[in-house]
Amino acid sequence: MTISFTTARRLPANAAVVAYGINSDKLNSLPTGFNSAQLKKLGFKGEIGQVQILPEGNKLLAFVGLGESKEISPTQLRSAAAALARATRRHSSVATDLIFKSDIETTQAVQSVVEGMALALYKFDYKSSSTRNKEDEALKKVILAGSTSSATNSAISKATAVVEGVMLARDLVNEPGGSLTPQVFARKVTNMAKEKGLAIKVMDEAAIKKAGLGGLLGVNRGSDNPPRFVELTYRPKGKAKATLALVGKGITFDSGGLSIKPWQGMSEMKTDMGGAAAVIGAMSTLSSIEPKVRVKGYLPMTDNMLGGDATRPGDVLKIRNGKTIEVINTDAEGRLILADALSLASEAKPDAIIDLATLTGACMVALGADIAGLMGKNDSFLNQVEKAAEDAGEKVWQLPLPDDYKDLYKSPIADMKNISAGGYGGALTAGLILSEFVTEGIPWAHLDIAGPARADKDSAEIVEGGTGFGVRTLVKLIQTFESPKPE
Ligand code: BES
Ligand code: ZN
Ligand code: ZN
Repeated sequence: MTISFTTARRLPANAAVVAYGINSDKLNSLPTGFNSAQLKKLGFKGEIGQVQILPEGNKLLAFVGLGESKEISPTQLRSAAAALARATRRHSSVATDLIFKSDIETTQAVQSVVEGMALALYKFDYKSSSTRNKEDEALKKVILAGSTSSATNSAISKATAVVEGVMLARDLVNEPGGSLTPQVFARKVTNMAKEKGLAIKVMDEAAIKKAGLGGLLGVNRGSDNPPRFVELTYRPKGKAKATLALVGKGITFDSGGLSIKPWQGMSEMKTDMGGAAAVIGAMSTLSSIEPKVRVKGYLPMTDNMLGGDATRPGDVLKIRNGKTIEVINTDAEGRLILADALSLASEAKPDAIIDLATLTGACMVALGADIAGLMGKNDSFLNQVEKAAEDAGEKVWQLPLPDDYKDLYKSPIADMKNISAGGYGGALTAGLILSEFVTEGIPWAHLDIAGPARADKDSAEIVEGGTGFGVRTLVKLIQTFESPKPE
C-alpha cells in the first residue's frame, strides 16, 4: 500500500496538513483560533465530501465536512475520508482527528477512515513518465490523532489488510485480458497464497479433464490459452467453528465466443473475472483477520474466445455433477464454469456457499451500475450476507428465484439450455441455472456483480476501473459467519 497509517495522541501532530473534521451544525463553534466567517465565505458548509484547505503560518489546515453531528454513518465517514485524501494527495503527510469526530465506534471509524483515504488514492495504469502525474502521488503518511492505544493500532493493521485485499482485487480486474491469461492469473494467486500461508491446489488442463469439469472445458475450447481451476484453503488456528465456501467467476476475457459481443464495451470484458478477484482479495486478508472459520475458495479460470474449434451454439456440455447443458448462446458462459465450481464446492459439504460473478447485463438493467443482485437459498444465510454488505458499505439488493421460471430454460435434448426463452428476467434465470448445481439443502447465496465490479468514474473511495467490489462484504461475512440453520 502506498500510504502508511500511524497514531498520535492529539492534533496538531507533525504533518504537512492538519485536517479537522467539522460538522455542518457546528460551523459557528469552531475551536478557538479558527475563523468560521472565512470558511463560510469560501462556500464551506461542512457537508460530506467537502474539504477546504487554508494556509496558516507555514502549515496547511484542512477542514473536512462531516455533515450533521448526529447522523453520520460509517459509509459517510469513509466518503469524508476519501474526499480528504483526494484534496491532500499532493502533500506528503496529513494528520487528522476524523476517527473521533462521530459516535461511530472506534474500530469501525478507523476502518472507514483507512479504507476511504487509501482506496481513494488507488492508481493503476501503464502510463509512461511523459504523461504520468507524479505530483498526485505525494501523500505517503497519515497520522490518526486521538489515541495511540494498541486497540487503535490493531484496528489500523486489520483495516490495512482489507485495503490491500481490495487493491489486489482491483489490480487483477484492471489487468488487460491479453496479459492476465488463466496461467498468469493462477500463478499470481499461487504467489499470494504462499505469502499469506494459504493452502492452494492448481488444476491444469489435464487435471480439469480428469475431474470432468465439462463447463470449464467447453468455454475454454475456443481459446489458445489453457484453463486453470484454483482451490484455496484458509484453516484457522485451533478448531474451526464452521466452513464457508467462496466461488468466483474467473473469465479473464469475455469476447462472447461465437455469439460474439459488439465492439462497444467489449474492452470492459477484461473485468469478467471480478468475482474471482473478490474471492482472492478477501482470502488474502485472512492471515491478518484470523477468523475462526475455515474458508475454501473455488476459482474456475478461462477466457471466452472464438478460435477454430470453439464451442458451437447447439453443443451440449456435461457438468461435474452429471447434468447436461445445451449451449444456445456462447456469451452466457459464466454459468457454465460456475456450474462446475458450485458442484465441486457442494461436494465438500460446507456450511454455506457464496458465489460472486459478473454474470448478467440484465442485473444492471434491474438495479443499475452500483448495486449487486443477491439471490439464493436459505433466508437466514441471505440475511447474513445482506447484513455483511451493509456493514461493509457495499450495496446489494435481493432478487427472487421463482421456481416457475425454470420452465424457461428447458431443452429438448439436454437437462437445460444455458439461456432462457423470451429474454426477460435474465438475472433471475441465470441465478436459477446456478441453483441446479448447488446440492439441495446447502445454504447458498449468489451475488451478481456485473454492475458494481467496475466504475466508469471516480466517487468517494471508488476509482474509475475495477472496484474490488465484494472483498469487504466477504471479509465481514467471514468475520461474523454462523452456520445457518437448514430450511
Ligand atoms: N460477462 C457478461 C455479463 C456482463 C455484462 C458483465 C455487462 C458486466 C457488464 C456475461 O458473460 C454475458 O455476456 N451475459 C449475457 C447473457 C445473455 C447472453 C443471456 C448478457 O448479460 O447479455
Ligand atoms: Zn458472456
Ligand atoms: Zn461473462
